Amino acid sequence: MQASGAIVAEDLVKVYGGKVTAVDGVSFEVPHGQIFGFLGPNGAGKTTTVSMLSAGLRPTGGRAVIDGLEVSQNAEAVKRRIGVIFQESTADGDLTGRENLEVASGTYGISRSEGHFRAKTLIEEMHLSDAADRYAKTYSGGMRRRLELAVGLVHRPKILFLDEPTLGLDPQGRAGFWGFVQKLRAETGMTVFVTTHYLDEADTMCDRIAIIDHGKIVARGTPNELKDKLGGDVVTVKTAAGASDMSEVIRPLAGVSAVQRQGDSYRVKCTSGETLVPLAVEACYRAGAGVTGVTVKRPSLDEVFLEFTGREFREEEGPTATDKAVMMQRVRGALQGRR
Ligand SMILES: Nc1ncnc2c1ncn2[C@@H]1O[C@H](COP(=O)(O)OP(=O)(O)OP(=O)(O)O)[C@@H](O)[C@H]1O
Ligand SMILES: [Mg+2]
Repeated sequence: MQASGAIVAEDLVKVYGGKVTAVDGVSFEVPHGQIFGFLGPNGAGKTTTVSMLSAGLRPTGGRAVIDGLEVSQNAEAVKRRIGVIFQESTADGDLTGRENLEVASGTYGISRSEGHFRAKTLIEEMHLSDAADRYAKTYSGGMRRRLELAVGLVHRPKILFLDEPTLGLDPQGRAGFWGFVQKLRAETGMTVFVTTHYLDEADTMCDRIAIIDHGKIVARGTPNELKDKLGGDVVTVKTAAGASDMSEVIRPLAGVSAVQRQGDSYRVKCTSGETLVPLAVEACYRAGAGVTGVTVKRPSLDEVFLEFTGREFREEEGPTATDKAVMMQRVRGALQGRR
């Protein structure tokens, strides 16, 4: 494979302590300027992969190449090119938001005056102006995530790694966060690698997606390609009450793979809902049944995920690692608030 993309993983392997194979031969390439989603259930190997790509963890096998640089041989140069926002909160609660940003600037060798300027700009962009001079420990979960994003961007990275960046954020917080990431991407052509548990988020935000399970990639493609692999759309056709059975009228239509009748409704699996709708409506009218309603449903990424990993996103008994992380964030917040 030619290492020309912004992020290249070649047969990456990580075995912890000689026993736990967390990542088991993962390869992919992310072109410059794309948003790449890495999805997988708890323990699939997402954070381990991010750590190897971002020079935080040495692979047991294979190699990672960032912006043309082999990570294991150029760790410092790679770190200057990337921003990383980890799953675990990394903001220093005993510093203000502004101080967090200025300290981060300093670690990248950015001058004090430039550091002040960048901190000010990022604070405004992240809508943290009112809280900029408060200790970060007083921030809400959403404010903290925005601050962490700002910290990850202070050195203007070409490539951004986000490990479950919107974990625990409310829908408004998630929308705001993604709005900003998209704006940055549009303005700077930044490449984004994101792991997420929110499938709807991956669906709307990512150019391409890979699904990882037990350390191996089990599916990859654009959100639409992945949905297509499930065998297309489901069209529901509702006929006027008392109309005769239309199953055999709909079944022979182009692209139809299955028809299920439930009273006056027909659930039709087909390759393309858009193509089928006019055909089905016309065929039913010709056969003497008026159509009173039609809906088209494309399979969601939830179903794709289920199909390729064989389980729901949160099938485990009891709280998952993600739930625990959210709980810990709250507990930590509550404790810090009391101090
Ligand atoms: N430092 C470590 N030592 C030993 N095993 C580890 C270590 N870190 C992770 N693992 C194991 O490696 C596997 C992959 O973990 P990883 O954190 O990469 O998963 P993940 O996909 O990020 O999960 P989550 O969705 O819960 O964040 C898991 O089985 C985990 O228990
Ligand atoms: Mg993780």
